[in-house]
Amino acid sequence: MGMVLIFISFTLLCLVPPSYGFDPMDPQGNITIKWDLLQSNTGTTDLKISISNYQLYRHIEPPGWKLGWFWEGDEVIWSMTGAQATQQGNCSRFKGQQLPHSCEKAPLIVDLLPGTPYNRQTANCCRGGVLTSMTQDPSKYTASFQMNVGVATDSSNFTMPFNFSVGIAGYSCSNATEVPATKFTTDGGRRWTQALGTWDVICIYSLTLASPSPKCCVSLSSFYSKTIVPCPQCSCGCQGLPGTQCVKFGDVPSLLQQNQDPTEAPTPLVRCTRHMCPVNVHWHVKQSYKEYWRVKMTMTNLNIVKNYSDWTLVVMHPNLQSLVQVFSFNFKPLNQYGSVNDTGMFWGTRFYNDVLLQEGEMGNVQSEMLLRKDPGLFTFREGWAFPRRISFNGDDCVMPPPDQYPKLPNMGNTAKSSRSAIFFSFLLLLVMF
Ligand SMILES: *[C@@H]1O[C@H](CO)[C@@H](O)[C@H](O)[C@H]1NC(C)=O
Ligand SMILES: *[C@@H]1O[C@H](CO)[C@@H](O)[C@H](O)[C@H]1NC(C)=O
Ligand SMILES: *[C@@H]1O[C@H](CO)[C@@H](O)[C@H](O)[C@H]1NC(C)=O
Ligand SMILES: *[C@@H]1O[C@H](CO)[C@@H](O)[C@H](O)[C@H]1NC(C)=O
Ligand SMILES: *[C@@H]1O[C@H](CO)[C@@H](O)[C@H](O)[C@H]1NC(C)=O
Ligand SMILES: *[C@@H]1O[C@H](CO)[C@@H](O)[C@H](O)[C@H]1NC(C)=O
Ligand SMILES: *[C@@H]1O[C@H](CO)[C@@H](O)[C@H](O)[C@H]1NC(C)=O
Repeated sequence: MGMVLIFISFTLLCLVPPSYGFDPMDPQGNITIKWDLLQSNTGTTDLKISISNYQLYRHIEPPGWKLGWFWEGDEVIWSMTGAQATQQGNCSRFKGQQLPHSCEKAPLIVDLLPGTPYNRQTANCCRGGVLTSMTQDPSKYTASFQMNVGVATDSSNFTMPFNFSVGIAGYSCSNATEVPATKFTTDGGRRWTQALGTWDVICIYSLTLASPSPKCCVSLSSFYSKTIVPCPQCSCGCQGLPGTQCVKFGDVPSLLQQNQDPTEAPTPLVRCTRHMCPVNVHWHVKQSYKEYWRVKMTMTNLNIVKNYSDWTLVVMHPNLQSLVQVFSFNFKPLNQYGSVNDTGMFWGTRFYNDVLLQEGEMGNVQSEMLLRKDPGLFTFREGWAFPRRISFNGDDCVMPPPDQYPKLPNMGNTAKSSRSAIFFSFLLLLVMF
């Protein structure tokens, strides 16, 4: 009876379509692109553009952001510091003068690389377009650059462009809206200046826009069962189907197709497995003490061409509210709804395990955590000890079906356990709506 309920809840959970652009675990999450008009002279305008990643657990990984827009008139970018346009475009109408930085109607702007000469830098620039989430590193979730723009005719005012993009799959951006002017201080707060105008562009992530296929899967095991539940077959793709490509274990791909454009992400190339996912998260119920229990989490990189830097893992499990200790990962509860305290975020420790290296080079990171057994809630029955949901870098991982979970050696259905199963199903329903 309990198992059936769990199964129904899971099926329901899988049927609920991901709502467009809304993440219940990060309802406020957005990337804000702020345009500050610093100065306007006849025909030219100085602008400062800041990109802030206001997301709890989604970060921007290499090759980084690539900001795009569409100019309203025939504006050109005369100069830029702290970033650069990827194309200069057709500047032939400026023959005989110093050429602008970019004459593109729809320029694409990328960050500079670390180590750029000082005269081309601005504050918060030059990290190759990489931004951490707000939670991970408060000093690395914003970027900014400045540019001087030539406006169409000398007498007209600067007009904001439109059709903004951040160059990362899954994000869609609003048009610019004017907001109260940003204030800047030059003397530790003793004098404030302000922008002549400030506009915000809000970009929001949507799983449905990002990618039709999952990028990670979950496998399970426990001390009380010999069964290791593997990732479901074809979680991320099926071996041998047209369009799939994988490299057999032991084989070194001789011709690693190097992407021509360094501002584009390389096409993923994974090891041949039954699940074909680039990332596998393994949850092992390791030990049971009188009042505590211990879980080991291992993440394995099966992508041959990618290091996952600043990775994040979001886990939903009702016992996370009684987390006692996490070894070698960082943890922060994501309590978006006061009464449900079952979701938390894990990320790596800087210089130790914040990079999930490419397959073949120690391509895994692991951690253990100690949880207190909540009386009346905790049980090893009915798969309760396994996570309800896991996402890696903000993408949901495929879970094995609950009827395959490792079972306790003597399966007896006591009243207590079915009560807890009903409670668990209720929790799931709560989370869903
Ligand atoms: C974007 O995120 C910031 C920081 O969390 C928040 O203050 C702001 O309201 C968000 N904007 C939108 C439009 O959601
Ligand atoms: C460049 O732009 C000029 C007009 O500004 C146009 O006449 C010319 O054909 C363009 N050249 C190319 C290669 O597109
Ligand atoms: C430019 O802006 C000023 C003030 O915002 C306004 O008074 C003026 O009419 C504008 N000029 C044009 C050409 O739009
Ligand atoms: C603006 O973006 C939309 C969707 O990306 C595109 O269809 C449209 O052509 C773009 N408009 C301009 C003027 O570039
Ligand atoms: C943004 O502005 C452009 C031009 O001003 C307009 O064509 C487009 O429909 C607007 N897009 C949205 C999403 O409002
Ligand atoms: C991943 O990191 C390792 C060690 O730092 C490096 O040797 C390797 O080239 C990196 N791989 C990629 C695809 O960046
Ligand atoms: C949720 O759990 C964390 C510890 O994991 C605790 O610090 C926090 O107070 C809890 N919040 C609520 C609303 O119970």
